[in-house]
Amino acid sequence: MRYLTFALGKGRLAKTTLKMFEEIGITCEEMKDKDTRKLIFVNEELKLRFFLAKGPDVPTYVEYGAADIGVVGRDTILEEGRNIYEVLDLGFGACRMCVCGPESSRELLQHHEQIRVATKYPKIAKDYFYNKKHQTVEIIKLNGSVELGPIVGLSDVIVDIVETGSTLKENGLMVLEEVCPLSARVVVNPVSMKLEQKRIQRLISNLRDVIAKADAC
Ligand code: PRP
Repeated sequence: MRYLTFALGKGRLAKTTLKMFEEIGITCEEMKDKDTRKLIFVNEELKLRFFLAKGPDVPTYVEYGAADIGVVGRDTILEEGRNIYEVLDLGFGACRMCVCGPESSRELLQHHEQIRVATKYPKIAKDYFYNKKHQTVEIIKLNGSVELGPIVGLSDVIVDIVETGSTLKENGLMVLEEVCPLSARVVVNPVSMKLEQKRIQRLISNLRDVIAKADAC
């Protein structure tokens, strides 16, 4: 039996994923050692390998087959646009991709004016404004603290993740339009899906049962 390799987005996402995996009998004790500098962890018994990667790199590892399966946020999947299968919504990490700004920018969106949009997600923003809204915009790529855009006059609006809404509120901004809902997803390499169909399908179905059980509580 060959190893099935998992790429997990570092941080909270990986922690919650591993908890979920434990519920279906997949454990990796090695990974729990906080002091370890190891990058790849093996469960010999189940012939599984795990590694942690930066979120935006997860779809890359999966597309090239360096990982058979990945767990990553839908925002990253949409932004990276890789050739991978999205097979399961894990339900956690739920939030929304939104167009946000001050109340005064609402009108600019309605009248389809040429506006400036600051975002960490240029591909998602471009797709939304060009293909869905048919509005010509100037997209400015930022790497974080995107809410600063409209506050300091860099942009009219932002396209960003809204979870609790408190960052917006504390900075006098609001949701003006919703782009799409987001949450953690399982992605699979298309070739692995064919070669390891049975093992991967069983894994997906077991995870589905865990999600259904949690939903029922
Ligand atoms: C994310 C996102 C928002 C904030 C939303 O930023 O970009 O800024 O969280 O969360 P809230 O609705 O619960 O306030 P993150 O903390 O990842 O940092 P960043 O701004 O550097 O991207």
